[in-house]
Amino acid sequence: MTTQNFEVESIKRSLTSAMNNPPSSPPNNQKKEGLRVLFPTLIYEAWYQNYQAKKESLVSFNHKLRDEDTEGQRISAAQYPNGYTSYYSRTDLYKLPELAELVAFLYKCADNFAHQHHWDTQNFEPVINALFTNINSKFSGHAEHLHPYSHISGVFYVKSEVGSPAISFKDPRMGRWMMPPAADGNRAENTFHANILPDEGKLLMFPSWLEHGVPPNQLDSERISMSFNFEMQPKPKSES
Ligand SMILES: [Fe+2]
Repeated sequence: MTTQNFEVESIKRSLTSAMNNPPSSPPNNQKKEGLRVLFPTLIYEAWYQNYQAKKESLVSFNHKLRDEDTEGQRISAAQYPNGYTSYYSRTDLYKLPELAELVAFLYKCADNFAHQHHWDTQNFEPVINALFTNINSKFSGHAEHLHPYSHISGVFYVKSEVGSPAISFKDPRMGRWMMPPAADGNRAENTFHANILPDEGKLLMFPSWLEHGVPPNQLDSERISMSFNFEMQPKPKSES
């Protein structure tokens, strides 16, 4: 059986088991009065330690990449107005030795993300399959999108300033859009778009199916971020 088939079979087994044997015990059957939280969308946030000491080298890395990536520049001119992204040309940046420390940080966070979601981390582990950069000059933004072919996605903020645009996550519960009651839409309990500011050195990690986007940058200064994807893959079997 191939690795991919093994994963598909394993997921099918666990889904069938979950559907046929819905849990009848805690954590969600405890007696409760008031609101109960179900089906939460979990956004993981973490900070790169002592980031300001690292910032200059990461900014230089991204500028050098852009300046040398003529294919990426050409595609960005057509697909990414006023900005540069290596999404179409270089998504394998995780292989570069100069980004090894950053990638180690991403792995640590992905492990936490999987563990805190109570995924099967005995048999599966997150493996990075894409890391690319985005430089948003003035009037450049990201249209709303999601990240196919992965389980965990995220973004790391290399450079931003007060006034740099926030990432905006869209409520994935489509049924809510049918007939929303009047409400204070700025609260986490009832907003349709949740915005998080792009502070330098901050990482956000989210399920890959969660739609998000960034409005155009209105500042003269660049907003630089690096995006990534992880896939949960079967752990290699140890030789015995
Ligand atoms: Fe994204």
